[in-house]
Formats: sequence, C-alpha cells, structure tokens
Amino acid sequence: MTQSLADMRRDYTRDGLTEADAPAEPWTLFRQWFAEAVQTEQASVEANAMSLATVDVEGRPHCRVLLLKALDDVGFTFFTNYESAKGQQLAACPFAAMTFFWPTLERQVRIEGRVEKVSPEESDAYFQVRPLGSRLGAWASPQSRVIADRGELEELLAVTQKRFTDIQPDCPDHWGGYRLVPDRIEFWQGRSSRLHDRLNYRLQADQWLRERLAP
Ligand SMILES: Cc1cc2nc3c(=O)[nH]c(=O)nc-3n(C[C@H](O)[C@H](O)[C@H](O)COP(=O)(O)O)c2cc1C
Repeated sequence: MTQSLADMRRDYTRDGLTEADAPAEPWTLFRQWFAEAVQTEQASVEANAMSLATVDVEGRPHCRVLLLKALDDVGFTFFTNYESAKGQQLAACPFAAMTFFWPTLERQVRIEGRVEKVSPEESDAYFQVRPLGSRLGAWASPQSRVIADRGELEELLAVTQKRFTDIQPDCPDHWGGYRLVPDRIEFWQGRSSRLHDRLNYRLQADQWLRERLAP
C-alpha cells in the first residue's frame, strides 16, 4: 500500500549547528559543509546540484535544478544558455536564490544575492574542459525554446556535428557562466521534533552579520 503523504515524515537527529561551530563569515562553513556533502552523500546524489530561483518581468518566480561549477571568494558560478528562460529572467532582474539540499547530512543551505555574468574568458575556460558531446549540445540546443519533437533536436545536433567536423567547437556567445554574489547565506541543520538549527549570515556595509532564525 502506498504510504499517505500525511504520514511521510522523518525525524532529523544526525547533528546540530551551534554558534560555536560557526565562523564569523559564511564562506568557510559553506566550504566545510560542501566537502562533507561530497564525502558523505551517496554517489547517486550530486552534491553540487542546487535549485536556482529567478523571477521574470511580471514578478513570477521560476525554479530549476542546476550544477554549481565554481566557487571563489566572490561567489557561486553555474553555466547555462544566456538566451534560455533563466537567461532572459536574469537580464530583466539580476537577483537569484540558490538552495542546496544534502539529505544524508540533513542539511540545507540557502544563498541569495545579485547575479552577474562571468567574463568570456572564464566561460571559455570551462567550456573547453567539457566533454565534446556537451560542447556540441551547447551549440545545438536552443534551450527553453519550443521544438517540434525529439527529431528536431537530433537534426540540430547533426547539423552542429557537421559544422564542427574538422574544428573544435569554441564557446558560443549565447552560452556561459553566471556568478551569484551572495548577500545572504543561511545554514540549516535538521534537528529532532522540527526544532532545527538555522544560522543566517547577512551582509551589511561589507560586514557579515550572523543571526539565529527560528525554525
Ligand atoms: C541534476 C541536474 C543538473 C542540471 N544542470 C544544469 C546546468 O548546469 N545548466 C543548465 O543550463 N541546465 C541544467 N539542468 C537543466 C535545468 O534544470 C533546466 O531544465 C534548464 O537549464 C532550462 O531552464 P530554464 O528554461 O528555466 O532556463 C540540470 C538539470 C538537472 C536535473
């Protein structure tokens, strides 16, 4: 018998997050939690997968899963098609929210801030390390546009493969990275009876403020 949705629940007991565990800025803690997620999560969980929410010109939110592909002292970088729905939304409203969920560790991290395009050099450097199939796909697929059927996509790929028979595909102008520059990062550690730990970092006048939020 299928379990009813109302009965589906899990108590979180693995760990806690105290102010004593948390540094004055969020970067160190994110790197630590990310490293632990890579080590601990099952192979089927992509630790760098996250949900990215953007809003369109009408203020309507859109959310999808993407892969985090770089992290530096400035922000969190992902790569995509600049002409996709998310690309158009970010052109209209350059703010986004990113959520990581690491179920084995019973942890969530929420990141919010302004989004900027990375330099063409950075996009190109990452594009070049992608497998050939992914590079051809970036040229072939008009991401987010309506297409007639699978056959149209395969036809677009065949045309692209022909175009790049003798030359390596370079990074298309319509493809590249975005960096989310955070002004808020919240660390959530699941605790028993839904009394979770939430430590929120907020950037104010170039200083990170740390505060505890009620679960
Ligand atoms: C695990 C996973 C990883 C994904 N990674 C990416 C990615 O890194 N870049 C990307 O453009 N789309 C990625 N996608 C596809 C997106 O979820 C989405 O379908 C696509 O970017 C189009 O979104 P949009 O129409 O809102 O622009 C991924 C999907 C999944 C399930």
